[in-house]
Amino acid sequence: MKKTDNLKTMKDIHIGLIGFGTVGQGVVRVIDENRSILRDKLGCEIVVKRIAVRDVRKERDVRVGEGILTDNPMDVIEDPDISIVVELIGGITPARDFILRALERGKHVVTANKAVLSTHGREVFTLAGDRGLDVGFEASVGGGIPVIRALREGLVANRIDSIYGIINGTANYILSKMTNEGGKFEDVLRRAQEKGYAESDPSFDIEGTDTAHKLAILINIAFGTYVDTRDIYTEGITRITPLDIRFAREFGYRIKLLAIAKLVGDEIEARVHPTMIPESHPLAKVDGVFNAVHIRGNAVGPVMFYGLGAGMMPTASAVVSDLVDICRNQLKGVSSRLTPLSYTQEAIKDIKIKNIEDLDIPYYLRFLAIDKPGVLSRISGVLGAHNISISSVIQKGRKIGGAVPLVIVTHSALERELRQAIKEIEKLDVILDKIIYLRIEENLGAVN
Ligand code: NAP
Ligand code: HSE
Repeated sequence: MKKTDNLKTMKDIHIGLIGFGTVGQGVVRVIDENRSILRDKLGCEIVVKRIAVRDVRKERDVRVGEGILTDNPMDVIEDPDISIVVELIGGITPARDFILRALERGKHVVTANKAVLSTHGREVFTLAGDRGLDVGFEASVGGGIPVIRALREGLVANRIDSIYGIINGTANYILSKMTNEGGKFEDVLRRAQEKGYAESDPSFDIEGTDTAHKLAILINIAFGTYVDTRDIYTEGITRITPLDIRFAREFGYRIKLLAIAKLVGDEIEARVHPTMIPESHPLAKVDGVFNAVHIRGNAVGPVMFYGLGAGMMPTASAVVSDLVDICRNQLKGVSSRLTPLSYTQEAIKDIKIKNIEDLDIPYYLRFLAIDKPGVLSRISGVLGAHNISISSVIQKGRKIGGAVPLVIVTHSALERELRQAIKEIEKLDVILDKIIYLRIEENLGAVN
């Protein structure tokens, strides 16, 4: 069939948006600016028929025609012409309700909402499966990086052994600016908010919650499970100081907020925390709002996906890719060809998450200690009693009888023992402040 004949037989596909903020406006821009490219690839037009917002009078960068905006999401969900509802408001309530209502009314759904999918994914995907509908969620992890599609399809032949991800643009932007330009935490966070990277509640970005939501989605697809996000050990970047960033450099590391998932026997290690990683690893070079996900499959080996992890146009690129995918299905009269997690419903299983205290890795410890003979031996005595051996030590400056920072990097040690040792060392009269500790990852899925 010639292209022109093909176009004549194709009907335009009407979609509706709920949410017209950073991402929603990006979606309308991409559809508008790339109209002819999309038409050439799809054979029909994607028409944005209605958009629900909170305040229809609000000034917006992207303008739409008269009568498109509404403050009632049900105008989108119940419009009989709309076959795909795109949820872009964020948060759990009322977003979850809108998604479920759209599915109940027979609409396919596209969402960028990692909060809903990580906590109510089973409910959403089960309903979609029961109704024979598609749910696209490429934008929920890694902004514009097609990592969900890669895990569901490109890496389908593999057992996934490990995932290491920098998957929060805001946190990575803050850490990079602090590391490379000496920026102050609060100033850099404000800039990330102005650029539209941060969640409406930025504590989700800086406390690691958003990263944990995204990690849960990756784990579910990689291992065929529905992990409880509360089982993912989560620590943010608010405790990271310029001093620790400097010490990390001296030891040849960078500090990154990492999402880590590893298959260990029949358990999964699942954790989010600031991590010291060797400066030579490709993840150490991922700066600014860029994200990267390093995945190791048993057949493919290590692969890394890299790109802009937040922001209007990169995220819209991912949302529109889902729209095109669903439109293509619609045009062929098929749906749910690919299950959301890429596993059959019957194969989804519960997998135990390893307790963080069973972790056995090297650690960085920073003490504020009195500078006098014998201090190091008292600290190392406690560490030794907990089977923790020292790899290197740095003391900065000399202030006899005064307070100096002392840094120790350990060999692999059990986190349970480390926590107990820290409690005991903090009681020593030569220790003047809380001890800072950071986890170190040396290998990160690389081929040895
Ligand atoms: P945003 O800029 O805060 O926009 C939210 C939009 O939702 C606004 O248009 C708001 O209306 C509308 N809204 C909120 N509550 C509503 C309600 N009850 N009924 C109707 N409309 C409502 O958010 P965003 O940054 O675009 O993020 C949207 C989603 O994408 C979130 O799930 C976020 O996690 C995800 N995401 C964002 C990025 C990013 O870089 N920003 C990247 C990846 C994923 P008003 O405009 O009238 O206030
Ligand atoms: N707030 C998120 C981030 C948006 O900074 O990564 C992208 O999911």
